[in-house]
Amino acid sequence: MRKTIVEILKKAGDNFISGESIAGELKVSRTAVWKHIQKLREDGYEILSSERNGYKLKDAPDLLLPSEIQIGLNTKIIGLEMEYKPSIDSTNQLAKKLAYHGAADGTIVVAEEQTGGKGRLDRKFFSPRGKGIWFSVILRPNLLPKDAPKCTLMAAVAVAEAMKRFNLKAEIKWPNDIMHDGRKLVGILTEMTGEIGKISYIVIGVGINVNIKRKEFPKDLRDVAASLSELTGDEISRVKLFRAVLEEFDKLYCKINKSGFDEILKLWRKYNITLGKNIRVISASDGKSFTGKAIDLNADGALIVETKSGLKAVYAGDVSIR
Ligand code: BTN
Repeated sequence: MRKTIVEILKKAGDNFISGESIAGELKVSRTAVWKHIQKLREDGYEILSSERNGYKLKDAPDLLLPSEIQIGLNTKIIGLEMEYKPSIDSTNQLAKKLAYHGAADGTIVVAEEQTGGKGRLDRKFFSPRGKGIWFSVILRPNLLPKDAPKCTLMAAVAVAEAMKRFNLKAEIKWPNDIMHDGRKLVGILTEMTGEIGKISYIVIGVGINVNIKRKEFPKDLRDVAASLSELTGDEISRVKLFRAVLEEFDKLYCKINKSGFDEILKLWRKYNITLGKNIRVISASDGKSFTGKAIDLNADGALIVETKSGLKAVYAGDVSIR
């Protein structure tokens, strides 16, 4: 209901619109409209009201509310269904629950803050209120489980393409960290549920550090994490960036559903900073580490590393560039 009121106010642009006509369109009373307007104001919407002319939207908050994200969003699958939480332990946790109970392909879960954000390899992920974009996407692709890692690469490419729209350069470290000067701007955690031969659903969790000042990171993260506003020197609209990410994600996802991963792997190579470098790999399966030169990405999205004892294909792990 509130999303529709915002939609009506946005459509009216600079004009006032009467409470009566909003009530008529929504088939509710004028008092109900007034109550919703009060709630929208509590959410941060600046809405002017005049007894004679009705209501006019003056300003919208930079909150990742469905009324800011979904109205006019140009996607076919991603974000048609959306769950918004001011605060949550982890968007991946809720997304997995929703997916288990049948949530649709493309459903997103987004939060202003996470109190128990999860990173890869059981690490924590710093997710302060209103400073980043912390979200998860539920995917139900018609793919084999071995294709799931490529969906992770797709998510990194989607964020990189969205950053390009804001003239921000993305550098992807295999498999899916987006970096700036050796510090992480974006982390992605993919969790899959399936049977042999069939993916039931994949939850891709993406954490984008948007407007976090260096001193706002906990001390132990200051040398390993960075935020997009450091690249621009200015705050970035999380709403605009999130909409761009969802639209790029949707474009790529529709592509894999039609014609596979070729285009995604091509784009990933364009943004990658890992191939050709000497690296240290911590394997996700046994936690053991080894060194070598990253020489290629195979058709499954695995990293091919040339080591003293021959070529190794790494399907999951953590890479540091030496
Ligand atoms: C990593 O770099 O280790 C992965 C970080 C993934 C963080 C995101 S934030 C949204 C989603 N919910 C989580 O708990 N984690 C992911």
